[in-house]
Amino acid sequence: MTPREVVSHPPPLRESVPHHIAIVMDGNGRWARRRAQPRSLGHRAGQKAVRAIVEYCLRNRIPVLTLFAFSSENWKRPDAEVGALMDLFLKALDKEIDELHKNEVRVCFIGELSAFPDPIRTRMQVATTRTAGNQRLALNVCVNYGGRWDIATAARLAAEAALRGELDAAMLDERTLARYFCLADLPPPDLLIRTGGEHRISNFLLWQLAYAELYFTDTLWPDMDAAQFDLALDDYARRERRFGCVPAAPAAARAG
Ligand code: IPE
Ligand code: IPE
Ligand code: MG
Repeated sequence: MTPREVVSHPPPLRESVPHHIAIVMDGNGRWARRRAQPRSLGHRAGQKAVRAIVEYCLRNRIPVLTLFAFSSENWKRPDAEVGALMDLFLKALDKEIDELHKNEVRVCFIGELSAFPDPIRTRMQVATTRTAGNQRLALNVCVNYGGRWDIATAARLAAEAALRGELDAAMLDERTLARYFCLADLPPPDLLIRTGGEHRISNFLLWQLAYAELYFTDTLWPDMDAAQFDLALDDYARRERRFGCVPAAPAAARAG
């Protein structure tokens, strides 16, 4: 990877490498269509890019990666495509977990998992348990995930806790509610990458992305490789994250 920019007077809230990258992996279908192939072939090709980003994070010591693999709305696609995706998940779970475990990757599946067929659910459970102690990279795979589902679930869990007398509903604030969201145990995403040219969130991590830097590229997901990820991270390194504050003054201005 190319060296990151070194700033002589960094504002306190600026860090050049993200701790947590979230990705909307979009463009598989168009990648296949351009080759006059079925969309399912694009999904299969996308698996290579998943391997590339996992390796990239491992190599660059990025500790958290969250991938949007299947949204709660993607069930509305034609049966053949949904079936092909389920088949791919099943095969990927069988094929990739050994390597991920060897590389000390902790795998978690985020979303409403009860909707998946038993063989997939069992494999997700096994993969989660098997890799639970790994600490090099936390890989969150969002499947049947929706940001609105996440918000509704957090609200329900908090309401249930209040009914049990474990929290005072009148005291419910952002910090308390945040504990009931997916990924609550991890820092929020610093960088959201969306491939495939669309400039939208598509019901991804609506709560967690509040202050993420957004990076959009026209590159289709199966074409993403280390060089493309370098471009995203170089762009991120040039951002100034202010979180609502004013920019830090350069040393000379502070002195004056
Ligand atoms: C993203 O690629 C993968 C999933 C949503 C499962 P798409 O399948 O949305 O590809 P395009 O956007 O149609 O090209
Ligand atoms: C978002 O892509 C979901 C995933 C990448 C899993 P979509 O292709 O489903 O999003 P829209 O339909 O373009 O908003
Ligand atoms: Mg799409």
